[in-house]
Amino acid sequence: MKRIIPAICLALSAGLPAGASESIYDRIKVDAGKAVYDAKCRRCHTDGSTDDSYGPPLKNIVGRAAGTYPDYDFSIALAASGIVWTPAALRAWMEDNDGFMPGTKMRHVGIQDPTVQDFVLSYLASITDRDGSAISD
Ligand code: HEC
Repeated sequence: MKRIIPAICLALSAGLPAGASESIYDRIKVDAGKAVYDAKCRRCHTDGSTDDSYGPPLKNIVGRAAGTYPDYDFSIALAASGIVWTPAALRAWMEDNDGFMPGTKMRHVGIQDPTVQDFVLSYLASITDRDGSAISD
């Protein structure tokens, strides 16, 4: 018993900084994702643009039905896909968008590293207003 109590205390005290640093990690992931997004996505996906030669704005993309951004001229493939942009679908898209959805007019992007995908997902979630708890993988 004498040895268990310090162990519990240690576990409890370790729990606090771990919780606090989790939000720091979250922030680092969002920042890293923003850097990847700035380098690989933003030139086509600006915040306000509805220019069809570029991509649609990706604000609120997590949990959005694919191909539904108002007044944007999507490819038939994307508009008719019937998918919702869950984290899993966004990962598959980042990894190999034209393999995942043949016929899309988005040029090939191949982000294979799951960690980097995770960063971009964190950033996309940070620009999504809706309640994340409703979004399943
Ligand atoms: C060269 C320009 C270009 C780049 C770079 C680009 N995209 Fe796109 N993106 C597009 C276009 C064009 C579409 C519309 C595709 C269609 O209609 O088939 C699109 C569509 C999308 C969609 C679907 C949007 C919706 O409303 O259904 C997502 C998600 C997306 N892009 C994510 C990304 C991410 C993440 C990156 C960076 C890793 C990226 N794109 C880089 C041009 C680009």
